Amino acid sequence: MSEQTLIVKVFRYNPEVDERPYYATYEVPWREGMTVLEVLRYIYEVYEPIAFRFHCRSGVCGACGVMLNGTPVLACRTYIEKPGEITIEPLKNFNVIRDLVVDRRPALEQTIKLEPWLVRSSKASDFEKISWSLEDREKFYLLATCRECYLCRAACPAAEVGFRKPELTKYPGPKFYMRDLATRILDPRDEAKESRLVKMKEDIDVYACTTCRK
Ligand code: SF4
Ligand code: FES
Repeated sequence: MSEQTLIVKVFRYNPEVDERPYYATYEVPWREGMTVLEVLRYIYEVYEPIAFRFHCRSGVCGACGVMLNGTPVLACRTYIEKPGEITIEPLKNFNVIRDLVVDRRPALEQTIKLEPWLVRSSKASDFEKISWSLEDREKFYLLATCRECYLCRAACPAAEVGFRKPELTKYPGPKFYMRDLATRILDPRDEAKESRLVKMKEDIDVYACTTCRK
């Protein structure tokens, strides 16, 4: 093994053939500027097919989230700084479909319950009559940059309780404030703020957010 080698432990699990998850270890030549995604692609091309998601390769689509040494990261934007050992696992607080691919459907179903789209009875042509401060617009656009990568859910202790013990809380993680609630609440065109606040309490157990005290 060269001093420029990465020893990569990867979580593997194919529920169709594996009784339980296991870790496979691969040697990958390290180079400066190498990303986690490039490590995964090297393993896929040189050793064997492993399942992982990616799309844009530039930190935009939010598809490539994984755990690197226990920390949620975007694989395409995270560099491996030096050779040595690393462990790559699927995002926490999701069920695994296969290897590093997790099932996002429960989170998406909770999103849909909040009706995160614009709810308004009047026509789009009326929108120009609605006053919307520059300050609120700037906040809106900042929050709307959420790429729905779900790294925050993987890092969130309250979401972990919701995942492991759904009888205790339905709290789905911080992304729901960012993308689904805050953007709508800041949007003066929207007419469903009140009903969303009720759903926020009943369907996503928003007060669980305070329980980690961080
Ligand atoms: S709020 Fe969560 S889902 Fe949205 S970009 Fe940030 S970490 Fe990703
Ligand atoms: S591949 Fe799109 S954010 Fe990483």
